[in-house]
Amino acid sequence: MIVHLVTLVLVFFQVATQNEIEQPNIVFIVADDLGWNDVSFHGSDQIMTPNIDVLAYQGIILQQYYTDTLGTPSRSALFTGKYPLRLGTQSASIKASEDRGIPVSVKLLPSYLKELGYQTHLIGKWHVGKSREHYMPTYRGFDTFYGFLGGAVDYLTYNLIEEHNDTSFFGLDFFENTMPVEDLSGHLTDILTDRAVQVIRDYNGSAPLYLHLSHAAPHTGGALVNLQTPAENIAANEHIAHSARRNYAGLVTSLDKSVGSIVAALAEKDILQNTLIVFVSDNGAPTVGAEQNFGSNLPLRGMKNSPWEGGARSIALLWNPSLSPGIWHGLFHVTDWLPTIVAAAGGSWIPNIDGVNQWNVLTNGGQPIRNELLVTIDDIGGWAAFREGDLKIIVGELSKDTCRYQGMELKALKSDVPLYEQALLESETYLVFRETLDVDLDLDSAFAKRNRSSLVSRNIQDPTQDAVSCNPTRAKGCLYNITADPLEAHDIWDLYPDIVKRLSLRLRSLWSELKPRWSPLLDMRANPASHNYTWTPWVPNDEIPLKPPTTVPVFPLHVSMGDLQYLVELNLNKFRQKMFDSIKNMGSSFVQSIGGLFPL
Ligand SMILES: *[C@@H]1O[C@H](CO)[C@@H](O)[C@H](O)[C@H]1NC(C)=O
Ligand SMILES: *[C@@H]1O[C@H](CO)[C@@H](O)[C@H](O)[C@H]1NC(C)=O
Ligand SMILES: *[C@@H]1O[C@H](CO)[C@@H](O)[C@H](O)[C@H]1NC(C)=O
Ligand SMILES: *[C@@H]1O[C@H](CO)[C@@H](O)[C@H](O)[C@H]1NC(C)=O
Ligand SMILES: *[C@@H]1O[C@H](CO)[C@@H](O)[C@H](O)[C@H]1NC(C)=O
Repeated sequence: MIVHLVTLVLVFFQVATQNEIEQPNIVFIVADDLGWNDVSFHGSDQIMTPNIDVLAYQGIILQQYYTDTLGTPSRSALFTGKYPLRLGTQSASIKASEDRGIPVSVKLLPSYLKELGYQTHLIGKWHVGKSREHYMPTYRGFDTFYGFLGGAVDYLTYNLIEEHNDTSFFGLDFFENTMPVEDLSGHLTDILTDRAVQVIRDYNGSAPLYLHLSHAAPHTGGALVNLQTPAENIAANEHIAHSARRNYAGLVTSLDKSVGSIVAALAEKDILQNTLIVFVSDNGAPTVGAEQNFGSNLPLRGMKNSPWEGGARSIALLWNPSLSPGIWHGLFHVTDWLPTIVAAAGGSWIPNIDGVNQWNVLTNGGQPIRNELLVTIDDIGGWAAFREGDLKIIVGELSKDTCRYQGMELKALKSDVPLYEQALLESETYLVFRETLDVDLDLDSAFAKRNRSSLVSRNIQDPTQDAVSCNPTRAKGCLYNITADPLEAHDIWDLYPDIVKRLSLRLRSLWSELKPRWSPLLDMRANPASHNYTWTPWVPNDEIPLKPPTTVPVFPLHVSMGDLQYLVELNLNKFRQKMFDSIKNMGSSFVQSIGGLFPL
């Protein structure tokens, strides 16, 4: 093996001198429902993720990475560079038997990359539309697809069960391109990893590679069984006292090993040096409630499907030997990946997106270029959040449970945690880095980096009962200085009435732009029993979809007369100039813009 690697290193130097600057290969790895506190590079002293951590220490950690709070909104934002509210993919994720998807008129990331000459592969989860064939990955820019189309599948049968009123729909959800795959066996995380390794081994260098590996782990299984963890990975987490948490940790362990295998395959193929690796989670962990996986977002507040940091502030890192290792503290939104990846691939500016190209600052440093972002708009749940600079505003009506710091009891240990140093030094990623790239991991600087990207030393007494911590209602939202108070424990709403007016207006105007949608409508035709027990598309491409609702739900914050006047004046100023320019058309669009802000 060593001899083999030495040969590779020699080959590598020859290749490297031949291609000075090339379009990088890109491997984009997505974890599902992985909590902020569940990677050891963020300071978790419970779950060890040494393979992921070495990438983090040798690469760039995105410290303020915002996704959305649920799978479909996050993934549609990632693939389109647009806020989900523009696509009708905001709020509740697509149900297995729901006729909905990212509109086919919208171009996705893999299509942009194909135009730049890439070959594009999706392995694993999709979840942005599957009721019609034209929503499927191979119709949206992926050359190949190998994985599942819905929200989650059973890790061992690859089936998905969706419970309805008094019946359940069940069937296989695993496809190669558009064909069901019937002859699978093994654990899902291994199946996806093996295919990714195969794609890398088969890669022939004729075009740059885009490999999107979208794991199911550590999401719960998609059927009636929840945390399906390989026995040896449970054993690796014996020190964790809570048994469900131990199972969850085992799923994270398998995910971490997968990352090591991918890095090793890239090195073996001699393309590691020229590969940009991204690792992200799609949203926070659902510590309790629906899809509970016993993941933890501590010390952040809230969890998946809530506008708190625990729901929307996620794990992200990127690595390539040409990037200077560090922590990027600027805001980074999931929509930024599309323009950033396209720029890394040599593409140019993309119109009509919400994402910002951050490639230049990530590679060359400089001042943060994003000052604001929409955290989430949930028209069904009735809440929204927006970040501007240090500040974050949350409006809507949220249940107390959603507002809590969840999962303190999950931190209990029953024996010593494995030695972290040793785990890092023995990780596959590190061994490969040392052999192939001559990387000598500096433990002191790794630990210093871990310390800086960690929030765990902060006080995490659950302050949700305090008057200052704030649970939003329709009468009053919450405002936080996230820079000073990342745990969202000190509400400053009453201290800054002008900021509250401005930010709630900003949120209100984004809300007025949302594409209305129905709460998930189940289509009985989807029943896999009618399709040989597979979840194949069941709606013809040309069938006219049900008309969406025509009105936008009411913004979930009451407006006072004073605010009303402020809003009208602000709008008047904004449109005065345009009014002079085109008085003719202005009448109706002005009325509409005001109307949109104040739905009756
Ligand atoms: C479930 O029940 C509701 C109300 O009884 C009905 O409107 C709906 O169509 C049912 N859904 C399914 C999938 O059977
Ligand atoms: C390389 O792989 C691509 C994609 O699989 C294929 O289209 C092409 O024909 C292959 N080229 C060679 C020279 O094998
Ligand atoms: C992080 O660094 C600070 C000082 O820089 C130190 O007080 C603290 O103990 C460190 N925390 C950890 C977890 O190493
Ligand atoms: C937020 O907190 C940071 C750190 O304490 C401080 O520098 C900044 O001025 C605060 N921002 C606002 C708008 O109050
Ligand atoms: C239905 O699925 C089984 C495997 O589960 C397969 O052997 C059979 O050919 C399929 N039938 C049709 C009509 O596709």
